Amino acid sequence: LESVRIHPSILSADFANLERELHAIATADAVHVDVMDGHFVPNLTLGLPIVERIGQVSPVPLDVHLMIDDADRWAPQYVLPGVTSVTFHAEASRDPFALARTLRDAGVAASVAIKPGTDVAPFADRIDAFDMVLVMTVEPGFGGQSFMPEVLPKLGTLRRAAADAGVEVLLQVDGGISTATIAEAAAAGADTFVAGSAVYGHGDPAPRIQALRDVLAT
Ligand code: DX5
Ligand code: ZN
Repeated sequence: LESVRIHPSILSADFANLERELHAIATADAVHVDVMDGHFVPNLTLGLPIVERIGQVSPVPLDVHLMIDDADRWAPQYVLPGVTSVTFHAEASRDPFALARTLRDAGVAASVAIKPGTDVAPFADRIDAFDMVLVMTVEPGFGGQSFMPEVLPKLGTLRRAAADAGVEVLLQVDGGISTATIAEAAAAGADTFVAGSAVYGHGDPAPRIQALRDVLAT
């Protein structure tokens, strides 16, 4: 499938060697950058100055995933050189539709993320407001968790809504994606796959990226 997108998550990379880790995934479609604030999720990672620097040195575009409170205030600030999409959490925004419009106007793809317990219906109903929807396949906060297949029906709902509305939207899954789970997520409707622990931490990431592509090519 030509349209499959693999986005390695630098959450599982070596933070002491970020530039090297970015160049190691040059065959990916984008790098997924997990921003956590210690409030929206019980973990703290990195913020604006580091995302800005990553954007300057990365060979691939940045797919920024914000797991932070007060998204309406912070998300527009992540529209930086190298950043092609900004994903904020629906649960952290007072008006996800207005925020998506702000992001589009600022020149990036506007993307909303929903946690496993969050209803997809309001976003399916107004799918035209978004360039991408991230269906979390784990509770956000940590890499290396187990894939939650029970959320996959949301992807079908979004796929149908996009077809009915006549719009193109990327459907991303994040959490527990590996060669063992990627086919199930793709069959459910996903086309954009985040993978952290499946790509990083096992030597050269390039064959890991290829292995994920190979599963969907067969
Ligand atoms: C989790 C993050 C993910 C994480 C995925 O909250 O949003 O992007 O890095 O890691 P794996 O692929 O190991 O589940
Ligand atoms: Zn993520």
